[in-house]
Parts: sequence; C-alpha cells; structure tokens
Amino acid sequence: MARVAVVTGASSGIGEATARRLAADGWDLVLVARRRDRLEALATELGGATVVAVDLTDPEAPARVRSAVEVRHDGVVDLLVNNAGARFPGTFADTGPEGIRQHLALNLDAVVAMVAALLPALRRSGGAIVTVASVSSFISRAGAIGYSTAKAAVRAFSDGLALEETDVHVGLVVPGFVATEGFPQTELVENPRTRWAVSTPDAVAEAVLQAGPGGAGQVHVPRAWAIATATRSIAPRLIPAVVRMLGANVNPEVRSVADREVDAPERT
Ligand SMILES: NC(=O)c1ccc[n+]([C@@H]2O[C@H](COP(=O)([O-])OP(=O)(O)OC[C@H]3O[C@@H](n4cnc5c(N)ncnc54)[C@H](OP(=O)(O)O)[C@@H]3O)[C@@H](O)[C@H]2O)c1
Repeated sequence: MARVAVVTGASSGIGEATARRLAADGWDLVLVARRRDRLEALATELGGATVVAVDLTDPEAPARVRSAVEVRHDGVVDLLVNNAGARFPGTFADTGPEGIRQHLALNLDAVVAMVAALLPALRRSGGAIVTVASVSSFISRAGAIGYSTAKAAVRAFSDGLALEETDVHVGLVVPGFVATEGFPQTELVENPRTRWAVSTPDAVAEAVLQAGPGGAGQVHVPRAWAIATATRSIAPRLIPAVVRMLGANVNPEVRSVADREVDAPERT
C-alpha cells in the first residue's frame, strides 16, 4: 500500500515541487493550502490526491486536515511536510508587535497545531515530520525580523521534538534563497554575479526527502549555507557585518501573500 504524505503549502513553489517529487516516488498525497484551484489542478495532474483548501491560521484547519486523513486514508499518515509559510513586508518600526504576531501565526503556531493534530497518527505509523525553516532562522535581516523570529522558533520546536519523539523521525530543511512566487529573489536572479546563490524548488524538494523517513536531522540547501549558519554562532559579529556589507540588510522585495486572492475554503 502507498504511503501517505500531508504537504502544506502545496499550491506553489517548494510545496508543489515536493508534492511532485513524492508522487514520483509513489506516495499518496494530501495537498493543503488556501488556493483550491491550484491544488485541484495539481491533484489531477498527479493522477489523484486529497485536497484540503484551508487557511492554516484558521484554528479549525488542523482538524480539517486530520478529518481528511481519517475519511480518505483510513487515518494513516506517514509523512507531514510543514512547508507553508510566508514573509510579510515591513520593518519592526513599521509593523510593531502585530507584524511579529502575523509571522508567528503562520510560520510557527500553524505548524505546532498541525503537528499536534497528526502526531498520534504519525506515532502509529512510525512516520516522519519535515519542517521547512530557513537560513533566516539563524541569520536575521533588517526588514524581516518577524520572519526570522518565527523561523528560529519553528527550528527550535523541531529540534526539541526530534529529541522527544522516539518513534517519529523529525527532520528540518534549511533553504537559503529559492526563486518562488512568494520569494521571487528577482534582484539576485537578475544579477549575473549573484544568480548562483539562488536555488530551485526542486533542490529543496530533494532535501525534504533527504530529511524524511529515516533520513537526516537537518539539511541546508545548498549545503554550503551550513558554513554560514555555523559561523553565525561561532563568530556572532561576522555574518551580520557581511550582511550589511553586501547591502542585503533591507530587502523590500517581498511579495505579500496576505492579500492573495483565494477561494473561500470549503469542506473537503
Ligand atoms: N523561497 C525562499 O527563498 C525560501 C527560503 C527559505 C525558506 N523558505 C520557506 O519555504 C516555504 C515555502 O515557500 P516558497 O518559497 O515555496 O513560497 P511560495 O511559493 O509563496 O509558497 C508558499 C505556500 O504556502 C501557502 N500558504 C501561505 N499562507 C498560507 C495560509 N495562511 N494557509 C495555508 N497555506 C498558506 C501558499 O499557498 P496559498 O497561497 O494557496 O495558501 C503556498 O502554497 C515557506 O515556509 C518559506 O518560508 C523559502
């Protein structure tokens, strides 16, 4: 019988690439995001998948996903990929505490709630949880404090969970720059001197599998980012100085997904 994976944020970018990669390996999929049309088109293309169109910051979202797993997959789930996430524009001076809370709601609270909802099933199957964090969880940048705060917290949550759970493998993926809809990285992609630094959603999808069942605890994409994140801890002034030097301390090019037009979530 095919194994079952729940992939959040499967309507674009890294989540969509991960869903395709898992489907190619024969996994049955539960695709989660707000844009139902995107999820249904992907499900059709992959020859069938369960679609749950839901805003993950809705308190009912985890129960909706769990119910879909119960009804469509006999309560079996072997892999949870916590990928949905976003960065919203604004400095702390602009947004105040609400800007931090907005990031925490999606990038931390929704992940924690989904893990809580699916953990019993994952324990039963001896499955895995893979969370997509970010290099920003180690290295803060001006203009992205809320995002870094939430990603650092979700990394700590994942690290702790890996120690607490004996029957569930808990892995973390740490991407650097990846050109996607929500994070176009246009400035880096258009500059021939920096284009090399931008990865693809497919590369991150591969890392999700590497951090999946029985896999690695933590995978950077590309792997060289591990040097930068380690250096951040060993020499705490060096990396922020480099970030300032490169002028990468403020990156206003963030496509807000908060105002994205989405279908009203419906019952699955
Ligand atoms: N791209 C990068 O440079 C980069 C680097 C490091 C880490 N990451 C992380 O990688 C993950 C995927 O991002 P991406 O680059 O693939 O961006 P993306 O193409 O914008 O994908 C984000 C996904 O999250 C979903 N999502 C956003 N808000 C949601 C909500 N409230 N409820 C349900 N789903 C929601 C979106 O779907 P809907 O809009 O349809 O809901 C979409 O499927 C994120 O966690 C991001 O922080 C990205």
